[in-house]
Amino acid sequence: MKILVTGAGGQLGQELIRYPACADLEFLGLTREEMDVTLFEAVREKIRALRPDVVIHAAAYTKVDLAESRPEDAYRVNALGTRNVALAAEEVGAKVCYISTDYVFDGQTDRPYHEYDNTNPLSVYGKSKRAGEILVQGFSSRWFIVRTSWVYGPYGPNFVKTILAKAKAGEPLRVVADQHGSPTYTNDLARFLIELVRTEEYGIYHATNQGQCSWYEFACAILEEAGVPASIEPCTTDTFPRPAPRPRFSVLGQTMLRAAGFTPLRPWRDALRAFLCELEE
Ligand SMILES: NC(=O)c1ccc[n+]([C@@H]2O[C@H](COP(=O)([O-])OP(=O)(O)OC[C@H]3O[C@@H](n4cnc5c(N)ncnc54)[C@H](OP(=O)(O)O)[C@@H]3O)[C@@H](O)[C@H]2O)c1
Repeated sequence: MKILVTGAGGQLGQELIRYPACADLEFLGLTREEMDVTLFEAVREKIRALRPDVVIHAAAYTKVDLAESRPEDAYRVNALGTRNVALAAEEVGAKVCYISTDYVFDGQTDRPYHEYDNTNPLSVYGKSKRAGEILVQGFSSRWFIVRTSWVYGPYGPNFVKTILAKAKAGEPLRVVADQHGSPTYTNDLARFLIELVRTEEYGIYHATNQGQCSWYEFACAILEEAGVPASIEPCTTDTFPRPAPRPRFSVLGQTMLRAAGFTPLRPWRDALRAFLCELEE
């Protein structure tokens, strides 16, 4: 099975293209420089030439705050880019797996979101990713949508690395305690994606490490597990204003993943421990 990965220079993309070799899997990773998803003819040409069986579409405009002042940039990549990938994949009969986000929900709840709950994104980023979800369903006949959240891993900047770097530099740490979600290790997400795209179990899935926490609890766990002695002050979202509104509670319930018989990702704290071991190596 030939799997083309878009956004292969990103956190998830890099994890996917380094996925341990299996005899029946071939990964073709394309970075933004190698295939800009906003250019339809270029996307069509690449996909026609490579003829993948599956496209895992991990490329995205992920600058959540900047998107508020640059909506055209976010929609160009997340909406039109996704349409381009879906159309070109459909032409060669490839399945498409679109990576989406917990930010398609408004967070006005206190129970985990179901895959088919109504969406109501608060931010431009969330709205543009939701537009991508709609377009992939419109232009592909064989689509998966996988929503994930709070992603970290060895490649690229992320919350875990930032907390560790600041603590080690002795910088004061203040972290919001009133936003709840589920951290997700790219390694575990990649394993699920590979398991999923081998099947014909099309539809929407929520895939995160199991369990939930606040950003503050996540930051405390990072320091505890890494054995870094530093104190963290909890704060509220109001005291830390940012351009893009975030959902207050965006835990993704994983009914469809279990219903279809897939293996759930391990608990978030176990995954964090595994990641910190990987970082040390
Ligand atoms: N990170 C999270 O916490 C999180 C949470 C929920 C969902 N997600 C979703 O998960 C997926 C992977 O996220 P990630 O953390 O790996 O993000 P990332 O590290 O920001 O990677 C995204 C990649 O897409 C590339 N890209 C941007 N514009 C492009 C274009 N026009 N054509 C081709 N590639 C382009 C970026 O390249 P440049 O660096 O050159 O711009 C980058 O390499 C995304 O769909 C994201 O929306 C992420």
